[in-house]
Amino acid sequence: MGTETVQNAATGKSLVVGPVVLLGPPGAGKGTQAQRITDYFGIPQISTGDILRDHIRRGTELGLAAKAQMERGELVGDQIVCGMVADRLKQPDCTLGFILDGFPRTVKQAQWLDRHLVQLRYFETEKGCLKQPIVIQLTVEYNDLLRRLTGRRTCPTCGRIYNAYTSQKPLVDNVCDVDGSALVTRKDDCEEVIKERLKNYEDQTLPLAGYYSLRKRLIEIDGSGADVDAITSAVREAIERGDCL
Ligand code: AP5
Repeated sequence: MGTETVQNAATGKSLVVGPVVLLGPPGAGKGTQAQRITDYFGIPQISTGDILRDHIRRGTELGLAAKAQMERGELVGDQIVCGMVADRLKQPDCTLGFILDGFPRTVKQAQWLDRHLVQLRYFETEKGCLKQPIVIQLTVEYNDLLRRLTGRRTCPTCGRIYNAYTSQKPLVDNVCDVDGSALVTRKDDCEEVIKERLKNYEDQTLPLAGYYSLRKRLIEIDGSGADVDAITSAVREAIERGDCL
């Protein structure tokens, strides 16, 4: 699997899109930004949270193994999650690049990803040089995260993310703008579980910033403003600049 030059339909620009990792605490806007960036660059969003929730909905063995941990706000085991990502990266839509949303989340997962991308020969461009993942860390204050997560509503049909309290409100309360489905609240978006998720983020995921910073791959973006378009532009520009890493 190698990275190639693709032409963006919106801008007509050609760029090499490789692996993109979106880091950030629960509620930082990883899913919101990944959905927009996916549309722009035409590469898939791989959300480990969404894949796990889909397994739970379908009642698979993997879903049954992960359900209790997710409902308590704990991380699911590295082996389960890495296996899921390995399966997803085999799909042909990942050949030109992909956005990982919510993965890696531990240093072990990051080390696994580095090894796995080398095995897939993902870093080899047509020029024979290595293409490293671009890692974008979205930063948002604790109280803003709490407010965003308690107000989050999601469309069960198309997956679009809304918020009852912020600028991301649907046009009609609790109804998806795209397909008219009734919006739902995620089970892990109650205050007690949110606090546990934020604690686990501090303990297990925040060290990843150091891991990627040492390897000169980390780009920090302030994700706290209410202007979602401005954050999208900053993320998009970081990916385009990262093209020449
Ligand atoms: P996952 O689904 O990945 O959840 P998360 O990381 O906790 O992140 P969230 O989806 O809650 O937040 P987000 O950053 O995507 O924010 P969003 O864009 O929705 O994981 C869930 C669980 O699965 C984990 O707890 C764990 O158990 C398990 N899991 C998943 N991956 C795993 C892994 N790799 N290893 C082990 N376990 C794993 O935005 C939030 C809200 O804010 C929305 O309502 C949105 O509309 C709003 N909003 C976004 N941006 C703005 C803005 N700029 N201004 C105002 N409002 C905004």
